[in-house]
Amino acid sequence: MPPALRINPYCAGAGTRPPLLAGRGRQLAQIDYLAGQFESRRGAESIAWYGLRGMGKTVLLREVLDRLRDRGWLVGYHEVRRDAGIGGSIAAILVQAHAALGRGKLSSALAWLRDQLGGASVSADLGEVTVRLGLGSSRTRPLPEDALDGLLIRLGEAAAAAAVGAVFLLDELQLMDRHDLSALLHAAEAAKDLPLAFVGAGLPDLPGQLAAAGTYAERLFYDRVDWLAEADVIEALIVPAHEFGVTYSDAALDLLVAGVRAYPYFLQLYAEETWKAAGTPSDRPGRVIEARDVEAALDAVERRLEEGMYRIRLEKASPSEQDYLRAMATLGEGRVSSGDVTRLLGKSHQQASSQRDRLIAKGLVYAPAHNALEFTVPGFGGYLRRHFEIAAPES
Ligand SMILES: Nc1ncnc2c1ncn2[C@@H]1O[C@H](COP(=O)(O)OP(=O)(O)OP(=O)(O)O)[C@@H](O)[C@H]1O
Ligand SMILES: [Mg+2]
Repeated sequence: MPPALRINPYCAGAGTRPPLLAGRGRQLAQIDYLAGQFESRRGAESIAWYGLRGMGKTVLLREVLDRLRDRGWLVGYHEVRRDAGIGGSIAAILVQAHAALGRGKLSSALAWLRDQLGGASVSADLGEVTVRLGLGSSRTRPLPEDALDGLLIRLGEAAAAAAVGAVFLLDELQLMDRHDLSALLHAAEAAKDLPLAFVGAGLPDLPGQLAAAGTYAERLFYDRVDWLAEADVIEALIVPAHEFGVTYSDAALDLLVAGVRAYPYFLQLYAEETWKAAGTPSDRPGRVIEARDVEAALDAVERRLEEGMYRIRLEKASPSEQDYLRAMATLGEGRVSSGDVTRLLGKSHQQASSQRDRLIAKGLVYAPAHNALEFTVPGFGGYLRRHFEIAAPES
């Protein structure tokens, strides 16, 4: 029986867990494969997932966190920050893994690890749930690669002794600097016969950055976290409503599918606003959401997109970076050539490329290929054209 509560099952927001994680069966099967391999003492590659902003990388990593934690694994999630140094990421994950495991089957292995790790370069005081890794910040001094290798090997051995796996979930991995990425790849390779891996998620240029960081990058398993198939969009819309006995008319679904444009963030946004426009029908089993409910939600959807998503992104850019974005929007909606942007701006190659690099660092644009650029969120070009009152591009 559905509960008689006025709640909204959908929720759009960065990292907000969706009521149903649709269309990610392939990635979850990759995790099942890794789990099966590790638990039967076989190897498996570390994984790099990449995709545009709002494609659902964070919620996918969080799903993996829950699944692996349920299996009693040593697993933690960390969002990489620019210039923070890899030691911080690894330490944060160890703290979480230890806190989650508590007195579970890995605590004795972790205590053993603490004993092993005492010494000059690495120390871990897991008894008090504090881990300090003397790996240093890569900015101030080079990371001692051996220290990270040694740590991960020992962790892998501890996990093997407990017949579980150890997995580091690293979000926004594209922000990790090249030297740290290289150390991470090196350590993953050094531990390749052990049940230890990382699963990294990042923007679409993550594979290129990994490739630039080291030869071991080719040993990773890569997959794109991509647009949702229409059937997945429909499933993600109807299943949460069904729990309250609420259904959608075909016309309402058609309108929603057209608005969502296969993009996970839009899916939650349209669904959340449509549910509100339909009067939050969680306490009215039998209610059918009609096309007019979707239409009534469109203004609110538009407002949230303009005010919440696009405007905030634009404000992250300095005036000269905004000029760059404007030039990109003038050239087109999808992929544009960075040479064309430079020409349109009338700037030197050097000036334009430093603006471009800053925009990439801020996550507003990415380089899908050499000399090519694209916005990281769908619809941003259209927003910029409205904002700057530029005519739509011809193609
Ligand atoms: N597979 C999915 N099914 C339904 N909704 C999803 C799915 N994936 C993501 N969402 C929804 O899309 C929104 C964006 O998800 P998330 O923050 O994980 O994206 P992201 O790729 O990490 O974005 P960013 O690059 O900005 O960090 C959230 O509201 C989330 O609930
Ligand atoms: Mg994210």
